[in-house]
Amino acid sequence: MIRAEEHFALAGHEIVLRCAEEADAGRMIDYLKTVTGETPFLMRDPDEVHITLEEERGFIRARNASEDALLLLAFVDGAFAGNCSFEGLSASRRVKHRAELGIALFQKYTGFGLGRAMLERLLEAMRERGFRQAELTVTAGNAPACHLYERLGFRICGRIPEAYRYGDGSSRDAICMVLPLNVVTGDGSR
Ligand SMILES: CC(C)(COP(=O)(O)OP(=O)(O)OC[C@H]1O[C@@H](n2cnc3c(N)ncnc32)[C@H](O)[C@@H]1OP(=O)(O)O)[C@@H](O)C(=O)NCCC(=O)NCCS
Repeated sequence: MIRAEEHFALAGHEIVLRCAEEADAGRMIDYLKTVTGETPFLMRDPDEVHITLEEERGFIRARNASEDALLLLAFVDGAFAGNCSFEGLSASRRVKHRAELGIALFQKYTGFGLGRAMLERLLEAMRERGFRQAELTVTAGNAPACHLYERLGFRICGRIPEAYRYGDGSSRDAICMVLPLNVVTGDGSR
């Protein structure tokens, strides 16, 4: 889906939130290569990012064309800072009320409230679309993310043991979290 571009001030910074455009494909791939190396809490290592420009353009096109998905980019004082997104699980009647979300910022743009501001907008868009349940998984030990999700009302509903395995032989669990959404529109009920 497409959501209108938004500008606001946060902790002395000018923030812009807008949907991704196909012209962002290059910066999105570079971003993925960087953020996956900055934290152990994402799904892959930087050398596993093999996405081509054409694939990334297609990904952006698909997210924008779907009414059950949103991909939002954040800019801080004009610089690309990261993105967040949601996507409905499926259009099947039994699960169409559920959507999964994700977020990752460059480390230099963490810790001043941007993640919270982005997720508040994302959850608002999910409610408007009629989703009844927001879901996510977070790596055990990712304290800032767990704290932020709990502050937004998410509760732990399960745990996948040894969900992530690392090159040094260690592993971490995945924590499953869920947030019931109060649907704000009358016509989007799922
Ligand atoms: C997780 C992430 C999106 C959070 O974004 P952010 O802009 O840093 O978050 P915010 O500043 O809005 O809020 C972070 C909260 O965690 C708290 N926090 C920060 N470090 C913390 C720590 N070590 N332990 C507990 N809480 C911590 C902050 O105080 C803040 O809580 P508050 O609002 O109650 O003060 C961001 O850190 C990020 O992109 N990390 C790398 C990728 C990642 O882990 N993505 C999530 C995958 S599930």
